[in-house]
Amino acid sequence: MSKQDKIKQLIDLRAEAKLGGGEKRIESQHAKGKMTARERIEILLDEGSFEEYDMFVTHRCTNFGLEKTKVLGDGVVTGSGTIDGRVVYVYAQDFTVFGGSLSETFAKKICKVMDMAMKVGAPIIGINDSGGARIQEGVTSLAGYADIFQRNIMASGVIPQISAIFGPCAGGAVYSPALTDFIMMTENSSYMFVTGPKVVKTVTGEEITTEDLGGANIHSSKSGVSHFLLEDEEEGLLLIRKLLSYLPQNNLEEAPVVECNDPIDRLDDALNEIIPENANQPYDVKDVIYSMVDNSEFLEIHRHYAKNIVCGFANFDGMSVGIVANQPNFLAGVLDIDASRKAARFVRFCDAFNVPILTLVDVPGFLPGSNQEYGGIITHGAKLMFAYGEATVPKVTITLRKSYGGAHDVMSSKQLRGDINYAWPSAEIAVMGASGAVEVLYGRELSKIEDADERAKFVAEKEAEYKEKFANPYQAASLGYIDDVIEPRNSRFRIIRAFEMLQTKKDTNPPKKHSNIPL
Ligand code: HXC
Repeated sequence: MSKQDKIKQLIDLRAEAKLGGGEKRIESQHAKGKMTARERIEILLDEGSFEEYDMFVTHRCTNFGLEKTKVLGDGVVTGSGTIDGRVVYVYAQDFTVFGGSLSETFAKKICKVMDMAMKVGAPIIGINDSGGARIQEGVTSLAGYADIFQRNIMASGVIPQISAIFGPCAGGAVYSPALTDFIMMTENSSYMFVTGPKVVKTVTGEEITTEDLGGANIHSSKSGVSHFLLEDEEEGLLLIRKLLSYLPQNNLEEAPVVECNDPIDRLDDALNEIIPENANQPYDVKDVIYSMVDNSEFLEIHRHYAKNIVCGFANFDGMSVGIVANQPNFLAGVLDIDASRKAARFVRFCDAFNVPILTLVDVPGFLPGSNQEYGGIITHGAKLMFAYGEATVPKVTITLRKSYGGAHDVMSSKQLRGDINYAWPSAEIAVMGASGAVEVLYGRELSKIEDADERAKFVAEKEAEYKEKFANPYQAASLGYIDDVIEPRNSRFRIIRAFEMLQTKKDTNPPKKHSNIPL
């Protein structure tokens, strides 16, 4: 073969690999409203930055006549590239090749880029669109999955791991995304479940559709498995770029600081008015967040799940900050099982990747009731407590309104190593709310008052007395639990100054193999 022929052979092989499962299957992928693996990577990465590896890898299976069908690349496109100039590693399962099913060699390709991402200290992004284990290969695929799982586990807390689900993801295959930091799912074209509707019907008799069992809506709102609900794939690919802009490349780097053109001392008079006169009236804590952060830009995580707590990323004077805020607009911002789990995982993510945490508190307490107790609110609430208490990143807290009881302690209180704890003048920091306190303190007196009006008058008086004494930030401030009571409209400036001051903060936990967080 002449030199020219050899080069032509290379060009032809590349062209063949790029076609994956062929034109017909690409068309069928498009007809389902889905992109091919390579089209996805092209949108995800900076233009022209993709370096593909293992394009010529093929499977080694000889069962069921599979040796006659070999496709270059074997159904997964892997490599590295850049996002906003920073290196990332990526793999994208190619549904046009054996339904994106995982073979031994397919798994090896993924493991190779995962290993490289760990060596280089760069994020790994996995795009999932697969029929699961390649059935013809038998158990080698199980080992392949487990090799990936083990790497997901070792990479956890070292490099950011992001999973996009753009098609099927079923059986044991779901556990790789589940081990990563963030999962996103496209509406109507993706699903995740341990067993599909047919098996569910056989085993339990339950009849349920794919969408209702494991669709994007379900996992983004009910189970919380998915952090982001996407209208389409492009939205997801751009979202990955945005998400990474808030994160360091690995756990040894500081979170990025970007240029800020939003004045740091910008006052917002609306914040002085945002807390309603009536303590039982809701408001949207996201309005508070949008007002404080740079350019009103806030990337919310788990937007549709456990809406009583809001979590997400924003910048303050260009610094990356994770925000956790109780949401009075939903279930009065109460802490329940889902909210505790959601926020605990977010706090731990931020801490693992050196992203400082801002906590905005307006919490009436933990949700009472047998449902919550039987579901283990004690264990789940403890997760959030643990996450805050263990976190060594800078922690700034502002109590906006209610901060009652155990929930007060949990929400990044001074005693859980909160660095700077501010309160607005509207803060009510107390053991419990006024009505509950009066019921307990004056139960005996109340049982003796028969006349309803008289009883109401008594309760109102005692509640007013309790509120006067405790429904304010000053008792906590007098004890140093609150560092300062600040004017709401000046919050942005005070937050920025606090985080700037805390940039060189050093705090550690005692040496240990690992903690025993109440899982
Ligand atoms: C081999 C597969 C495959 C698989 C799909 N294909 N899944 N080949 N192994 N697991 C092939 C099909 O034969 C077909 O080939 C092509 O991919 C496209 O599949 P279709 O069925 O035509 O596509 P669609 O109608 O969109 O259905 C997609 C699907 C379905 C729902 C994913 O293919 C399906 O149910 N596949 C099997 C899923 C499954 O049971 N997987 C094993 C789970 S066990 P042609 O040549 O016709 O185009 C598992 C264990 C993991 O994953 C354990 C980890 C610990």
